[in-house]
Amino acid sequence: MGVNYIIFNHFILIFFFISLYHINAVDRSKFKTCDQSGFCKRLRASKPELSPFKIIRNSINVSSIGVEGSLVNADTEDFYSFLLQFLEDNTIRLRINENKIIRHRYQPLKALISEPYQHPFETIELLDDYLFFKIGSIKVKFIVSPLKLEIYNKDDLVIVANDLGKFVFEHYRPKPETINEENNKNGEWEERFHEHIDAKRFGPMAVGMDFSFPGATNIYGLPSHADSVSLKTTGNTDPYRLYNTDIFEYELNERMALYGAVPVIQAHGLNQTVGLFWLNAAETWVNVQKLSESGFNSNVMEKIVNLVAGGTKLVQNSGMNTHFMSETGILDVFFMCGPSFYDVTRQYSRLTGAAPLPPYFSLGYHQSRWNYNDQDDVKTVAENFDKYDIPLDVIWLDIEYTHDKKYFTWDPLKFNDPESMVHGLAAKGRKLVIIIDPHIKRDFGYFLHNDATHRGFYVKNKDGNDYEGWCWPGSSSYLDFLNPEVNEYYSSRYLLENFKGTSEDVHIWNDMNEPSVFNGPEVTMPKDCIHHGDWEHRDIHNIYGLFYVMATYDGLLKRSGGKKRPFILSRSFFSGTQRYAAIWTGDNMAEWGHLKMSIPMCLSSALGGISFCGADVGGFFGNPDKQLFSRWYQTGVYLPFYRAHSHIDTKRREPWLMGNETMHLIRNAIRERQSLMPLYYTLFYEHMQTGAPVIRPLVMEFPKEKETFDIDDQLLLGKSLLIKPVVEADVTHVDVYFPGANEIWYNKYTYQQVKTNGVKTIKISQNEIPVYIRGGSIIPIRNRIRRSSALTLHDPFTLIVALDINGTASGQLYLDDGESFEYRNGKYLLLHFTFLNNQLMSKIVDDGRFKTKAWIEKIIIIGIPNMFRTGIINSDRGQEELEAKYNTDEYSLTIRKPGVSVAVEWSISLL
Ligand code: NOJ
Repeated sequence: MGVNYIIFNHFILIFFFISLYHINAVDRSKFKTCDQSGFCKRLRASKPELSPFKIIRNSINVSSIGVEGSLVNADTEDFYSFLLQFLEDNTIRLRINENKIIRHRYQPLKALISEPYQHPFETIELLDDYLFFKIGSIKVKFIVSPLKLEIYNKDDLVIVANDLGKFVFEHYRPKPETINEENNKNGEWEERFHEHIDAKRFGPMAVGMDFSFPGATNIYGLPSHADSVSLKTTGNTDPYRLYNTDIFEYELNERMALYGAVPVIQAHGLNQTVGLFWLNAAETWVNVQKLSESGFNSNVMEKIVNLVAGGTKLVQNSGMNTHFMSETGILDVFFMCGPSFYDVTRQYSRLTGAAPLPPYFSLGYHQSRWNYNDQDDVKTVAENFDKYDIPLDVIWLDIEYTHDKKYFTWDPLKFNDPESMVHGLAAKGRKLVIIIDPHIKRDFGYFLHNDATHRGFYVKNKDGNDYEGWCWPGSSSYLDFLNPEVNEYYSSRYLLENFKGTSEDVHIWNDMNEPSVFNGPEVTMPKDCIHHGDWEHRDIHNIYGLFYVMATYDGLLKRSGGKKRPFILSRSFFSGTQRYAAIWTGDNMAEWGHLKMSIPMCLSSALGGISFCGADVGGFFGNPDKQLFSRWYQTGVYLPFYRAHSHIDTKRREPWLMGNETMHLIRNAIRERQSLMPLYYTLFYEHMQTGAPVIRPLVMEFPKEKETFDIDDQLLLGKSLLIKPVVEADVTHVDVYFPGANEIWYNKYTYQQVKTNGVKTIKISQNEIPVYIRGGSIIPIRNRIRRSSALTLHDPFTLIVALDINGTASGQLYLDDGESFEYRNGKYLLLHFTFLNNQLMSKIVDDGRFKTKAWIEKIIIIGIPNMFRTGIINSDRGQEELEAKYNTDEYSLTIRKPGVSVAVEWSISLL
């Protein structure tokens, strides 16, 4: 093959892929349906009368590890072993693996923070027909034949595993001499998709099981899909697919796979919420159906023995069923028994971890595009933010900053002095984020390619040679992050002496890490590629991107000697990614529908443990009109990751290029965001402590209010702000659902009160979207707007005290240095505020060892009657009288300049 041919090919391919970015809808033919995915077809079709699996009764062994034993498939006479464990915090784990070890099966344990702590059972009864265990209010009945696991909370049956008997575990088997139509009917040994042939060295090895949730009406979770937050039933349509994929121009209201895969669900009903985590990193499909539509005479609908009372109980013909199917791996499933929504998110975070505190700047506003042309462009953009008085925390550089798409290098002409560029930004408290992708240009003039080739650091193809695919640099190979040596090598690339031009003010964007391979099957790596440890890519596909960000995180930690918090944005994600990176919803479009979809997509991620989520503000593809653009900025304020980004072919769209009026709207939105940073930061602290998501669907706070179960065009920031983004053009009114029978909701701008429980039509303007403060909350904000959030760290706070129907309120404020890990040594301040009996108190929780000069500059009490004229403050300065001013239109009382430090305890009594 001549060099010219290669170069020609290179350009054709890159051109092809850049131009694909212009097609107006996803090219479905590029992605498999369930029917085209052999194992999905096989497992979905399984409809046994009765499950053939049985527990071998005399194999049971109860020990400190848990309950172990063997299972047999009576049809095939294959044997399996199981391990059932009770974990702390109302969680149960069931593992099933095959006995005959022809080859080990992959377990994606990196998704977990550590091996979960096991709890002893309180009661055990080993009867002939079933095994019975109890711990607290949770009871488990493990039925011997056919195999079934029933989990009760108190006396309610809440989860049934293998309820419909769909448990399948395809055991490894010797490869037949010839592959023919008979033994390869459904892609057991070889699967073709377009020009790609997947050679299945190890044959069929899929795992699947169904799970019923008798009390549930709604199932949530399974990010990432461009779909509603409450999952749809998938009766006649394709199941939800989890297979990390770079999908061009994804469509909305779809179950097709996107960039990330988090195999966790919450099943919610009026009485309780439970969760299920299917720990498997292979391609996975999930069917969702109502039990009444399952077509089975499920046992759930029959009389079942009430184990406690010894009587019988009729369980209603209701509930949901999910059927999980994975191409490979073991069966490893965690049942999180709730019983509340918050319990389930906490239980999941105990398994996979919560996000550590992000660096403060990363919660601010980020300006990106593909691409800022050169270092002067970056400088001018930053200067214009100052000129137009718009706060800015971060500027981003996409792939064009590199020298010919070779990561860890700079374009020598356009970015010949990156130090000065970074320094210039840092002087105003700003950061730079640059992109680093996992594909490596196959160019022997490139140190990384040389090192990787010579040290054997690349993923191999099925023949054992370095796998070669096409991505931005043209011919590329992919670092194998399953190899610890690769991690060590790769993370060291981030050391400041290795990556010249960077500093601790440079953070990282890991893109294309599904991994994206332009000419690979389904735009990714062939499943028969081989990773370190002889794992096939099929075994680990969905966790590859997590391995990648773990190595990056390690690199950024190393670079600061473990002192500074890294910020990483990752496109691909899996359970556990929250411990290392933020995510975004990928390549969306400048259309109203995509703005609308950003809410359920980020809510689902938040329920999947990844709160730090956002969408490209303005839309990646296409050019938003002014109205869409400003509405997007207004919505983005209320999603945790706030970044404007756009495709290389879009028109430049920095805020001042959109006309004065739009620029003002955008400026207000970004300023609003900066003022809310103390609240965001406090919510991230709470998330780290409890696993509670930063943004929440209404159902989490109002789990007994049916009307909230399907709402995903509104969201809650924490539990105290209710937001209804405006996601349609030219609207003058929107319908807002106000949850809670005894709530007061205060308009955030006018303090006007809403006491309706239900839908109320609200008049809106172009200036803002409906945002309401929940009565009963105290919200910390910072009203002094500065060029960047780093410059606000010592600024004073304003407290908004919104009273509930009893005239009380409470809230928190968390603060620390915003960048180091010193908070882990107790250097933080956590303040608890309460308003009760006309007295506002600030108490310091824990030691309060963070030193700060920040103080309280204003207190606004809303929803308070006009009867107070003054406030008496008690603090380290003794007793002083403060001026209080009542606003009769707003029903608010403002106390100016209490002037008290946040580092001391104080109280203010109203008189
Ligand atoms: C794909 C990413 O999703 C997009 O945000 C980025 O601009 C391009 N890759 C180019 O790096």
